[in-house]
Amino acid sequence: MSLIDQIDKQKVPQHIAIIMDGNGRWAKQQGENRIYGHYEGVNSVRAVVEACGEVGVKYVTLYAFSTENWNRPKEEVDALMELLVSTISAETPELNKKNVRLQAIGNLESLPPACLEELNESISITSKNTGLTLVLALSYSSKWELLTAVQQIAKDVQNGLMQADEITEKHVQNYLCTKNIPDPELMIRTSGEHRISNFLLWQLAYAEFYFTEKFWPDFRKNDLFEAILNYQNRERRFGKTSEQLTPSK
Ligand code: FPP
Repeated sequence: MSLIDQIDKQKVPQHIAIIMDGNGRWAKQQGENRIYGHYEGVNSVRAVVEACGEVGVKYVTLYAFSTENWNRPKEEVDALMELLVSTISAETPELNKKNVRLQAIGNLESLPPACLEELNESISITSKNTGLTLVLALSYSSKWELLTAVQQIAKDVQNGLMQADEITEKHVQNYLCTKNIPDPELMIRTSGEHRISNFLLWQLAYAEFYFTEKFWPDFRKNDLFEAILNYQNRERRFGKTSEQLTPSK
C-alpha cells in the first residue's frame, strides 16, 4: 500500500510546522554554492504544499527566513530575498488554482519593500481561498514575537485596560503573529539537526517533533507522508497518563 493510503484521514494534523534545513549542505554535496540549495529547496516547498492539500492538512507553516538569518553574508540574504519575490510571484496563480491561501508571520516590515509588496499582493489575491493555508515565517523569531507581545500587554496594563494579574494565556495568544492560527500538532525539521531554533516556542508547547536526516532539497511528498504516519503512531498525552486516555473497561 502506498504511504498516502496508509494515512488515517480522520487523524491528520491540522497544522504542520516545518524547519526547512540543510539547503547549504545539500548544495555543497553537489559542488554548488549555498544559493543553489535554496533554489532547489523551492521544489520541496511545492511538493509539501501539494502533499498537505492531498491529505487535508489545514495549515502548514514554513520557517523560510529567521531573524538570525539577517546575519548571513549579504549576497546570500539578497539572493534569498530575490528568490522569495520570484517564487511568490511565479507560484501565486498555482496557489489560487489549488485553493491555497497565503499568509505570513514575522517582522514583515523589516523585509525589503519589493519583497513585502509581492508578499502582500499574493496574500490579498489568495485571501478568499478555503483550502490549505500556507504560512511563511519571514524575518521571524519566537523571542522577537514574545517580546513584542509582552510590550503590548504591558501597554494595555499601563493604559488601565486590565490588571497585571488578569493576564491570561488567551491575552498572550492574541498578541502573537499566529493569533488566528491553531497551534501545530507536528513539527518537522530536516537535515539531522535536533533544535527548535527560535521557532514558534509558545505554539509548539504540545507539538510532536519529527526529525529526518534528509536535507530540505531532497524532501518530497512521501517524506511528509512518513512524518504524518509516524505522528499518527504516537500517543499524545497532554500531561495525562496513558491509562487516563484509554481507560480499561
Ligand atoms: C536553511 O538551510 C534554509 C533557509 C534559511 C532558507 C529556506 C528557504 C527556502 C527553501 C526558499 C523558500 C522559498 C519560499 C517561497 C518559501 P541552510 O541554509 O541553513 O542550510 P545549512 O544548514 O545546510 O547551511
